[in-house]
Amino acid sequence: MKVPFTWKVTGWFVIGWSAEFPVGESRALHYFGEELAAYRDESGELHVLSAHCRHLGAHIGHGGKVVGDCIECPFHGWRWGPDGSNRYIPYQPDRPNRALKLRVYPVQEQHGVVFLWHQPDGKPPQWELPDIFTKFPEFGAGPDEYYRAFPEFSRKADREPVHPQIVAENGPDSSHFRYVHGASVTPVCLDWQMVDNEWRFLTGWPDARSDDPSEMSLRIHSHFSGLGFAISAFEGVQNHRLIFACTPVDDETSDLFYSIWWPRNPGDSSDVPPEDVRAQVERRFLVTVFEDLNIWRYQQYVEKPPLAKIDAEPYMAMRQWAKQFYEVPPADAVVSNA
Ligand code: FES
Ligand SMILES: [Fe+2]
Repeated sequence: MKVPFTWKVTGWFVIGWSAEFPVGESRALHYFGEELAAYRDESGELHVLSAHCRHLGAHIGHGGKVVGDCIECPFHGWRWGPDGSNRYIPYQPDRPNRALKLRVYPVQEQHGVVFLWHQPDGKPPQWELPDIFTKFPEFGAGPDEYYRAFPEFSRKADREPVHPQIVAENGPDSSHFRYVHGASVTPVCLDWQMVDNEWRFLTGWPDARSDDPSEMSLRIHSHFSGLGFAISAFEGVQNHRLIFACTPVDDETSDLFYSIWWPRNPGDSSDVPPEDVRAQVERRFLVTVFEDLNIWRYQQYVEKPPLAKIDAEPYMAMRQWAKQFYEVPPADAVVSNA
């Protein structure tokens, strides 16, 4: 998808689930057009570094070996620490070249989800990563009261032609539910606001059995943290939480991540969802991303959409808010010398 803004978006982004990064293993990743190497050190800490060894350029995410808190290059055994610095050169063990550095990408793990901070110039995190469970304290329940999200209730779509802003634009778009998701009622946008890096909106599902149009059977509280992901809490006929994330891979595609925390059946002490819950969540909720994807895959970005009155205000406010995360021009921007 061609968009008039950068894919090198600033913010926190999901890069996978904790269980995909076992202790003592390295892995190659590719996000924001960069080659990256992730490794979980022997103490269990996860690190992400730029992938090409500063010696002769081998990719340390392909066959890099974890030694203590370092990763050892598969080519000539130079070791790199969590701070990106050169820690060890096998043929001059007392003289590492500490000034040589790989770029460090800050990572944080939360309830089994892995987040990475990206800023095009390598600046440190500009805001704190929100917590999936403390985000909506009014709903109380902690992680122990839900089934685990991974692997049963998590899905990923690789390298889809979707920019994170397109996903965020889906938030205020209440009229697509009837068409894309087969909803029998059209949800209404009850409230929306922007608070610094967050775009918060509240969607209500009118109760079909009530004559009062303001009677809601379900409320969805969604907060975007930058453009990388939204955390949502459902209140009413369903009471789950979810995270939906979009992480740019390059200047054309993104990986999409989706995880649901479903409330445990009363008295169930296991975090593994039982078969009937699994089947139900899969059928009713895990498909929605793919319904949206069927549109996004072939959509063209419209810069000046002829919006209906009801959509116009939140839509344009959202697009304005998104600009703060674009700190560099789009890749194909024409640079004028004038
Ligand atoms: S290229 Fe990495 S040690 Fe030589
Ligand atoms: Fe949707």
